[in-house]
Amino acid sequence: MLILNKTAGVFSKPSKSKVYGFLRTFNFHPEPQFLHKLVLGIETSCDDTAAAVVDETGKVLGEAIHSQTEVHLKTGGIIPPVAQQLHRENIERIVQEALSASRISPRELSAIATTIKPGLALSLGVGLSFSVQLVKQFKKPFIPIHHMEAHALTIRLTNKVEFPFLVLLISGGHCLLALVRGVSDFLLLGKSLDIAPGDMLDKVARRLSLIRHPECSIMSGGKAIEHLAKQGNRFHFDINPPMQQAKNCDFSFSGLQHIIDKIIMQKEKEEGIEKGQILSSAADIAAAVQHTTACHVAKRTHRAILFCKQRDLLPHSNAVVVVSGGVASNLYIRRALEIVANATQCTLLCPPPRLCTDNGIMIAWNGIERLRVGLGILHDTDGIRYEPKCPLGVDISKEVEEAAIKVPSLKMKI
Ligand code: KG4
Ligand code: ZN
Repeated sequence: MLILNKTAGVFSKPSKSKVYGFLRTFNFHPEPQFLHKLVLGIETSCDDTAAAVVDETGKVLGEAIHSQTEVHLKTGGIIPPVAQQLHRENIERIVQEALSASRISPRELSAIATTIKPGLALSLGVGLSFSVQLVKQFKKPFIPIHHMEAHALTIRLTNKVEFPFLVLLISGGHCLLALVRGVSDFLLLGKSLDIAPGDMLDKVARRLSLIRHPECSIMSGGKAIEHLAKQGNRFHFDINPPMQQAKNCDFSFSGLQHIIDKIIMQKEKEEGIEKGQILSSAADIAAAVQHTTACHVAKRTHRAILFCKQRDLLPHSNAVVVVSGGVASNLYIRRALEIVANATQCTLLCPPPRLCTDNGIMIAWNGIERLRVGLGILHDTDGIRYEPKCPLGVDISKEVEEAAIKVPSLKMKI
């Protein structure tokens, strides 16, 4: 269940005493002067409380993360007030751990960067109010971060990637294709018209009761589907990828979810089992849904590459395509994208799995990127608000649709 509550205030809980308690625990020595810029990044947009300190060269000095996945798996989805409470319980410890691991005091920071958009209102509020108090206490500049911008720029921390590049972000909460032309210069080519692929995979995994499967009980839905799919045969089901007639770069996953729901219902009847028990065909269903998702994502990415090349937005050879977000850790989907990259003479890059999912490092790195170019650095946080909904960049998806590019079919032999 996902309940978005826009009315919840940033300062809904007097967490000040907590912040000051935490700050007292630091011993402030006269520190050596750091030559590099240092940014503390704080992430609480969804269900991970994460923090990290990163320097100008991309070196991670310290990081900490508290994942709420296990709790939300038990309740069958993220319940925002529960996520908020868990963020409140953990943020102080996580920030302290990241700072302690980095062996620097808050005084040495060049700035504090925090995700303020988009995300769950109640979750964003915890990170923002904690950060604002830190910023005020230490008189540091504040850098508000767009969560998707941070995902998109992470690759520049791990690889030498210049602008422009194409990015595909696929996670539990987001699904978009964008051209990255600069630190804060994005062209949005397409996005999901309904739910994100990770959300769909999570729902399918729940419907298949994979939490009760001995091999998958502590895995996220998407990971459980990938794991089980290896034992399944996708050819047992013939499912058409969504939106085959729409010559754009948008995505859709709720129709696919309903098709899978129907298949599961049918199989439950055939196998004579109750809802909640594991189907003997669960692995085949997992393989089929994973394959269909991979084909859909690959097709949209293929069209985005062709569009960008047609408009000279990307170089004609050796263009870089980046895939990130939680679903990007799926190796089957990555292989499908690899086929597209090979066919279009592009290089496919993906951050390591721990940087594909939500983390504090990407937020701190986004802060470094913004510091370098002097973009969006605030010296006064008065009036700053989180934004649960916030599109990324300039939306040119209509232009993409009007171009109506036909994508040559590729053999998806994965
Ligand atoms: O980026 P992320 O940690 O959080 C956001 O949604 O922003 O992504 C989490 C999503 C979940 O839906 C999870 O099921 C999915 O990523 N996921 C995967 C895999 N690992 C995590 N989906 C497919 N295959 C995986 N191996
Ligand atoms: Zn994310």
